[in-house]
Amino acid sequence: MRELILIGIGTGNPDHLTAQAVRAINGADLILVPRKGPDKADLAELRHQILSSVLTNPATQVVDFVLPVRDAANPDYRAGVDDWHDAIAQAWAVAADRPGAEVVALLVWGDPSLYDSTLRIATRLDPVPTVRVIPGITAIQALAAAHAIPLNRIGAPFMVTTGRQLRDHGFPPGCDTCVVMLDGSCSFQSLPPEGLTIWWGAYLGMEGELIDHGPVAEAAPRILATRAAARARHGWIMDIYILRREG
Ligand SMILES: C[S@@+](CC[C@H](N)C(=O)[O-])C[C@H]1O[C@@H](n2cnc3c(N)ncnc32)[C@H](O)[C@@H]1O
Repeated sequence: MRELILIGIGTGNPDHLTAQAVRAINGADLILVPRKGPDKADLAELRHQILSSVLTNPATQVVDFVLPVRDAANPDYRAGVDDWHDAIAQAWAVAADRPGAEVVALLVWGDPSLYDSTLRIATRLDPVPTVRVIPGITAIQALAAAHAIPLNRIGAPFMVTTGRQLRDHGFPPGCDTCVVMLDGSCSFQSLPPEGLTIWWGAYLGMEGELIDHGPVAEAAPRILATRAAARARHGWIMDIYILRREG
């Protein structure tokens, strides 16, 4: 592997692919597609659908590989993640070890810069290849677009954070708007709802996209019910929201 291209593919809508991403897909010798367990939202099918709609280079090989699972039993979380990332880099190297596979590509959900470890894992390859990034539409952009709202108030900062951070530390200080990702437990419930508005979205860009918004006091029960029903129906859910406080 001489070059590794991390191609941001957006959040599930094949139309999110940029012309640059399509060119990079067709310029690769080999494209690696991760597979998780059968009950996981591995989105491998979606990656294959994207490829079948834009891949026209007959010389490009597409190879599935089994994504190693993190050892959740390891009491040292950082060490567990370390080992896991090593195992993923190793799985890439093994899957890409094919004649002619000099330029290898991975299709990264959203954009590789946002809550994604692909760039960190790439540094574990030995030897480290040249790494190139093709930017993609993030879940944040998909959410703001779905609600047709700007993320920031005029000239004001906003924070991007996780459900765990919101739960453990409350609304981030120093800003009136935060975007919350990676939240499996609707952490907005942990905040006093007065003066808070939420813009929520699930499966953004995908079939079955759901959105809702309003004062947290009114919208939270609706979102909790919609989310639980959708999760039961699909078996998995990806959601994200913006919280804004008054004043
Ligand atoms: C591991 S992060 C990956 C983010 C991705 N790199 C990006 O640029 O959007 C996964 C989180 O992104 C958000 N997310 C990704 N795709 C989404 C979608 N289609 N709809 C709603 N949220 C999504 C969710 O908060 C999910 O927990």
